[in-house]
Amino acid sequence: MDQTSRPQIRLLMLGAPGSGKGTQGTRLAELYDARHVSTGDLLRNQVTQGTELGQLAQPYMDRGDLVPDDLILAMVLDDVLGSESEPSFVLDGFPRTVNQAQRAYEQAIEVGRTLHAVVCLDLEHDELIARLEKRGEESGRADDTAATVLHRIEEYESKTLPLLGYYDGRDLLLRVDATGEVDEVTERIVTALARRLSEAGR
Ligand code: AP5
Repeated sequence: MDQTSRPQIRLLMLGAPGSGKGTQGTRLAELYDARHVSTGDLLRNQVTQGTELGQLAQPYMDRGDLVPDDLILAMVLDDVLGSESEPSFVLDGFPRTVNQAQRAYEQAIEVGRTLHAVVCLDLEHDELIARLEKRGEESGRADDTAATVLHRIEEYESKTLPLLGYYDGRDLLLRVDATGEVDEVTERIVTALARRLSEAGR
């Protein structure tokens, strides 16, 4: 089925660092035949390539701070919501501030590509930290050190958590328990999404 005849789906993955946005976002994109867009991966590619954006973003990422909104919006908006872009996507890690969400919404309305659902993965602090420390030991992602992980969680709680109210107010939010095996979490998300999409007549 090509992009024009396939039902479109546009999802957003929200959740604290380590909650499984990337793991589940990749799976959902495969399941729904959509593009997976991770702003963390896009930024890490820019850093590896040594681009101007990468050089500007790296100090923020190394500290575990959010990268300034304008840099993120310039990187994402046209790519994901431009007229030539794919109509189905799973966004992972964007938006992360209410300002990013409002700017994306304005552009999405213009091009007729607003979201169908926002999945928020809920996980306790101890488990977030355990998952990220394990990844830090195994694969050595630069920002998976103990101090930076704690700061990333603080950034999430102060700047990204307000998005839950923002999306709940637009009746898009699905809260999903992110504990347990990867397959179990995927099943919970798919079940919640199927219910939501059928309620919405899709
Ligand atoms: P980003 O790459 O998005 O990092 P993050 O939000 O900190 O999230 P993670 O990738 O660490 O975790 P995740 O929730 O995706 O979980 P994952 O599936 O990987 O962003 C990095 C930085 O870029 C930010 O700090 C910021 O500086 C900048 N940035 C990015 N977007 C931005 C934006 N929009 N605005 C401003 N700045 C931005 O899983 C984590 C680990 O757990 C993995 O090892 C995985 O294998 C494991 N795991 C997953 N699920 C399970 C499970 N069910 N059981 C056991 N282990 C599991």
